[in-house]
Amino acid sequence: MSTDHRIAMEQPGLFVTGGAGFIGSNFVRMAVERGYNVMVFDALTYAGNMENLAGLEERIRFIRGDICDAASVRNALREAEPHAVVHFAAESHVDRSILGPKIFTETNVLGTHVLLEECRQAGIERFIHISTDEVYGSLGNTGLFTEESPLNPTSPYAASKAASDLVVQSYAKTYDFPAIILRCSNNYGPFQFPEKLIPLMIIKASNDEELPVYGDGQNVRDWIFVGDYGSAIFQAIEHGIPGEVYNVGSNNEWKNIDIVRLILEEMHKPFSLVTFVKDRPAHDRRYAIDSSKIQRDLGWRAETSFEKGIRQTIEWYMTHRQWWKNIMTGEYLEYYQKNYEPKR
Ligand SMILES: NC(=O)c1ccc[n+]([C@@H]2O[C@H](COP(=O)([O-])OP(=O)(O)OC[C@H]3O[C@@H](n4cnc5c(N)ncnc54)[C@H](O)[C@@H]3O)[C@@H](O)[C@H]2O)c1
Repeated sequence: MSTDHRIAMEQPGLFVTGGAGFIGSNFVRMAVERGYNVMVFDALTYAGNMENLAGLEERIRFIRGDICDAASVRNALREAEPHAVVHFAAESHVDRSILGPKIFTETNVLGTHVLLEECRQAGIERFIHISTDEVYGSLGNTGLFTEESPLNPTSPYAASKAASDLVVQSYAKTYDFPAIILRCSNNYGPFQFPEKLIPLMIIKASNDEELPVYGDGQNVRDWIFVGDYGSAIFQAIEHGIPGEVYNVGSNNEWKNIDIVRLILEEMHKPFSLVTFVKDRPAHDRRYAIDSSKIQRDLGWRAETSFEKGIRQTIEWYMTHRQWWKNIMTGEYLEYYQKNYEPKR
């Protein structure tokens, strides 16, 4: 493997947008452990939570700011002087994009564009754009998404991520801007906001409440432990080739209903807690990722088995009840009711 593309890492500085969210905060923890000098830039929307960064206060710099606001991005970049930017900040929940799509275009497309432009002006040496496999749309029963699969998003969330990918690619091509795009499958693990499938089911099961499963529960997703994704991001920062797209996944396809069954079994709860609710519109049937390129070119592979990862995740939610209780109030309850209750 050529090392021509490596960035100088003597005093590695990272500027992490969305670092107070789920994947971002797990990544920041890993970055600090690896000796990176980290600045987190996060607007602290409903999904951002300073408790996700608890214990790191003395070891990172944090700026509350919006990626749509060019001046605050510029000032923060000046202060941080990072080698690399890792861009997680986004509106990230498909269901919310169906209820209120506009903010998804504002944050994910315009916000990414503002950030890109500021990073270009600042001469950033590496920009990691955190995209998603959802940009490819839905698969039939067979086949895998490769980096060459056409972009065919179905939800407003996926469309906004696909649009942001295109803006990033245009910067790489037009300005030779050193951007790398990562398209990852569904993540799970500690600190995931309880609106997402796995934490929602764990928490509902723990409370002996109904577990709402969309449609027939047969939708398939490819799940990766958040720490494995973190290690893929470090490979991209340190060895990735600018302008390239890398798919990231762990060959771990599960039907939603089978994940729910597994969680219930692990938690010794009855399957009768499951209730099937009206499917969401345009619910993609199957995502599955071919990640052979990142394995071959960057020597990365996922290391956490699903059985181990899911046990660790359940254990984390059971020992961090106050974390999710603090979140599941006001705005969250309103969203939950709007999203699930009327569909019964
Ligand atoms: N969760 C997954 O399974 C998954 C899978 C593939 C890709 N992704 C992508 O990974 C990234 C992170 O996902 P996540 O699940 O950790 O999301 P999350 O919703 O948990 O966190 C998003 C973070 O971005 C911040 N943010 C939102 N708007 C902002 C703005 N305008 N300015 C600055 N900060 C802002 C929020 O405060 C929050 O801290 C997203 O880009 C998402 O599209 C997620």
